[in-house]
Amino acid sequence: NLILHSSKTIGVLVPNIGNPFFSTFFRGIQTVCRNAHYLPLVFSASNDETTEKYYLGNLVERSVDGLIIASSSVTADTIDNILKPNRIPYLLFDRNQINDDGDRLQVDDYQGGSIAAEHLAKLGHKRIVVMMPKQLTRNLRKRLDGFINGLLQRGIHFNEEQDLVAAPLTKLGGYEQTDAVLKRRPTAVFCGNDELAIGLYRGLHEREIQIPEDLSVMGYDNIDLAEYVTPKLTTIEQPILELGETSARLILNRINDLQMSRQLVDVPVKLTERSSTGRPV
Ligand code: RIB
Repeated sequence: NLILHSSKTIGVLVPNIGNPFFSTFFRGIQTVCRNAHYLPLVFSASNDETTEKYYLGNLVERSVDGLIIASSSVTADTIDNILKPNRIPYLLFDRNQINDDGDRLQVDDYQGGSIAAEHLAKLGHKRIVVMMPKQLTRNLRKRLDGFINGLLQRGIHFNEEQDLVAAPLTKLGGYEQTDAVLKRRPTAVFCGNDELAIGLYRGLHEREIQIPEDLSVMGYDNIDLAEYVTPKLTTIEQPILELGETSARLILNRINDLQMSRQLVDVPVKLTERSSTGRPV
C-alpha cells in the first residue's frame, strides 16, 4: 500500500548547494512542498557519483516519495537499477538530461546562448571568449551551441579550441582563469554562469581592468548577487524560483498519479541588461 509507505518527503539532488542558483531553486521547491504537506530534503554531492549513490540509496531505504535530480552524476544506470525497480517517481532537471521518457522541466539553453551572442554582437564585439567547464553537461553544450550559432549568424567566427577557457562553474573557477581570459585579448567574455563572472570580477579588479570599459562581462542565471556586484551584471535570466516551484508541482503530480501521461514543461529565458556590458573601445 503506497499510502502506508509514504514518508511525505521529496529528495532533491543538486550539484552545488553553495551556488545561489540552487538555493533559490530549493526555496521554490520548499514553498510548494510545504503547502502540500511534504518535506523536501536537499543533498549536494559535489558531482561525486559515489556520494550521490549513497544519498540515493539511503533515501530509497527511507521510503522517499519522489526525487528531483539536477546533478549530472546520477547516471542512467542508477535510474534503471535503483529508481525504476522501486517505482520511485523522479524528475530530471538542468544538468541532468539523460535521455529517458520521464517527466521533464526544460529550460531553453540554446535560446539563452543565442540571446547572449546577439547582445554582445549588437554592441559591436568581435573578439569574444567563453568560460565554461571542460566537461560540458548537456544543458551547457546547448548553451554554447546557441552562443556559437548566434555569433555565426552575425558573421562572427568562434573557434572552440582557442576561444573557450575551461573553468569549473564556481567563483574560484572564474577567478583562477583571469589570466587565461586576458591572454586571448578579448573585448567581451561570456561566462557559463554568474558565479564564474563574479570570480572573474575579482581577478579583473586586482589587475585594475575596468568593466565594461576595458572588458565586457556577461553572466548566465541571474542569481540574486547579480545586482549586488559593481557594476551590476548583465546576464541571461532563468526564472529560478519558478523553476523550483514548477519542479515541485510536477513531482507531486506524478506522486499522486503514477499513470498520468508524460509531463513536459518548457521554460524560456531572457536577457537582463545591466551595466557590465558596453561597446568595445
Ligand atoms: O549556476 C548554476 C548553473 O548550473 C546554471 O546555469 C544551471 O543551469 C546549472 O547548470
